[in-house]
Amino acid sequence: MTDTLADSRTSSRVFTEGVPLVVDGGSRRSAAERAEVLADPGFGRFFTDNMFVARYRTGQGWYDARLTPYAPLQVDPSMATLHYAQSIFEGLKAYAQPDGSVATFRPEANAARFVRSAKRLAMPPVPEEAFIAAVDALVDADRDWVPTGADQTLYLRPYQMASEPFLGVRPAREYLFLVIASPAGAYFPRGVQPVSVYVSEDYVRASPGGTGDVKCAGNYAASLLAQEQAGEAGCDQVVWLDATEKRYVEEMGGMNLFFVLGSGDDAELITPELTGTLLPGITRASLIALAEEMGHRVTERKFGVDEWRRGVADGTVTETFACGTAAVITPVGEVKARTGDFVVGDGTPGPLTMRLREALLDIQHGRVADTHGWLHRVG
Ligand code: PLP
Ligand code: COI
Repeated sequence: MTDTLADSRTSSRVFTEGVPLVVDGGSRRSAAERAEVLADPGFGRFFTDNMFVARYRTGQGWYDARLTPYAPLQVDPSMATLHYAQSIFEGLKAYAQPDGSVATFRPEANAARFVRSAKRLAMPPVPEEAFIAAVDALVDADRDWVPTGADQTLYLRPYQMASEPFLGVRPAREYLFLVIASPAGAYFPRGVQPVSVYVSEDYVRASPGGTGDVKCAGNYAASLLAQEQAGEAGCDQVVWLDATEKRYVEEMGGMNLFFVLGSGDDAELITPELTGTLLPGITRASLIALAEEMGHRVTERKFGVDEWRRGVADGTVTETFACGTAAVITPVGEVKARTGDFVVGDGTPGPLTMRLREALLDIQHGRVADTHGWLHRVG
C-alpha cells in the first residue's frame, strides 16, 4: 500500500469528508504463517493482520477512522447491540487478478445495501464512498492475504453496531463501523455438489414489514433453529417460505434461489420476486444479467413449493440452484418437505447452473473481459 503501516500517523487517505484515515496497523505474521493459512483457509476461520474501525457519535458524526491491527474489541457490557441487536453487516470478496492486481466485485452495490440496512435499523448510514474507502484500505493493507489458489478469495465483512452503553430501547447515539477480512476457500466443504434442503414449515425468516430485505444480524439469529431442524432432518440447508401463505419459496439459508425450466438454449430461469421479505442479492442481480445475455429468459415471480414439486415430477423444472457471495452458486438436489420429498436432477450439478457459475467466476477472477464494469481495482 502507498501509506506504509509503520507508525501511527494520518495517511493521505480520508474515510469520509473531514475524517482522516489513521494508519497504525502492521504485519503480524510471517510469510510462512500466512502460507500455512492460505493453503487451506476454509470459510470464516482465519482473519488477516489488520482491521478497519471508525466511530460515530450523534452530534459529532463519524470520527476516529483507523486501520489498525486485528484485535479483540473491548466493549461495555451494557453496549446496546448486545441487548437489542441494532447491528447490520455486508459480505463481499476481493479477487486476485491475473495481472497481479486485486479487485472487489460490485462494492458500490454492497455500499448501497449497507445504507438501506442502516436506515431500516434506525442507524446513521456510512456514506457509500466511505464504505468503499474503508474496504479498499483494508484490502490494500492486507493484499498479501488475498489467496491465489483456484476459486480462493478474500472474504470481506463490513459491519456496523450500536456501541452506546445504554439499556433504554431507542436508536443508540454511538456506533462502530468495522471491516474485517478472512481468506476463503469453498463455503460448502463438499465443493460444488448438490445440497439437500429442508423446507421450513414451522418457522419463517421474514414477514411483510419486517427486516427480510436488509442484512441485519437478527435475521440470522432467528434462522438458526430452522437450520438446526434441517440438519436433524439430514439436510444441509433450510429453504424459507413466505410468512403469509407458507406456499411460495423465498430463499435458501443465506442465498437466493433460481429454478431452471427446460434445457439447452431455450432454458428459462425463474427466481422469486423481491417482495420485500427477500434479500436483494448482488449475485442474484448479476446472474439475471448474465443469463439474459446468454439468451435465457429470466422471470422474477412468485414460485410455489407445489409448482417446484410438480415441475420436477413432469420434467419441466430441470435444475435448481442457490446463489450468494459466500457460496457463489450451489446446486440444490434433494428437497424435503412435509408435503412430500423430491429430488431435482440426477445428483450432479445441472449444465446451466455450471455455465452461469463459470461465467460469474470468470468475470470475478479476471479471466474474461469485465464488460459490465463490475470489478473495482484496489490500490
Ligand atoms: N439471501 C440472504 C439471506 C443472504 O444472507 C445473502 C448473502 O449475502 C444472500 C441472499 C445473497 O446475497 P449476495 O448475493 O448479495 O451475497
Ligand atoms: C454472504 O454470502 O456474504 C453472506 O453474507 C451469507 C452468509 C455467510 C451470512
